[in-house]
Amino acid sequence: MMDFKAGEDFISTLRARRSIYHLGKADVKDEEIESYLREIFSSVPSSFNARAQRILLLLGNQNLLFWRDLVPAALKERYEDHPEAEDAWTKRRGLCDSFSKGNGTILFFSDSKVGSGLKETFTEYEPAIDRFLAQEVGMDEYAMWLGLSKIGMGASLQHFLGLETAVRAAYNVNPDWVLDAQMPFGSIEKAPAVKDRAQAPEHFRVVK
Ligand SMILES: Cc1cc2nc3c(=O)[nH]c(=O)nc-3n(C[C@H](O)[C@H](O)[C@H](O)COP(=O)(O)O)c2cc1C
Repeated sequence: MMDFKAGEDFISTLRARRSIYHLGKADVKDEEIESYLREIFSSVPSSFNARAQRILLLLGNQNLLFWRDLVPAALKERYEDHPEAEDAWTKRRGLCDSFSKGNGTILFFSDSKVGSGLKETFTEYEPAIDRFLAQEVGMDEYAMWLGLSKIGMGASLQHFLGLETAVRAAYNVNPDWVLDAQMPFGSIEKAPAVKDRAQAPEHFRVVK
């Protein structure tokens, strides 16, 4: 018999995950977070089980340095020649400040070399491999986001652009790794507003 009670618990877990932008320091050891996130990471599937996903976990002072120094410097450079983007920068400065107060940040990458290898080996699937890699990184992101939410930690998914060069230099990251997103996490300092989840009929169709 199907266990729909367990299904309801699962849906509650999904619903509890939100984008949390106001972070503080949760009372948890770095080692506990690290091993928890490692377990989640190793449970996420990948196409052909090729494991092209890569993670860089910034904890403690490295999280502070990332959001206080590295990201603002990279963004300033990006917006320097675009004074009209000053507004965007001002908004992001507030986010950087909040994220710097959290426990850590997960940086998500795909290893493009694994992708090239898959294209050579599975020629029939060559046109789909880039899509597969993007999906895999998205699965990592969602799994970790849910996992953090499940233990009471707040997180959000960020796509700050133009960070690759600074990230590669700061953490000696393999040039084949393509940065997809950043996930700052910490204690929840402000509850998120309710968001519209309504579905139009054409968003989910059933044909029997
Ligand atoms: C693929 C993807 C990319 C996103 N990129 C960003 C982003 O760059 N910055 C941000 O603040 N939120 C980003 N979000 C978060 C969404 O805006 C957010 O999940 C959505 O509004 C629903 O709100 P909730 O997360 O509180 O449920 C992204 C979400 C997804 C799924």
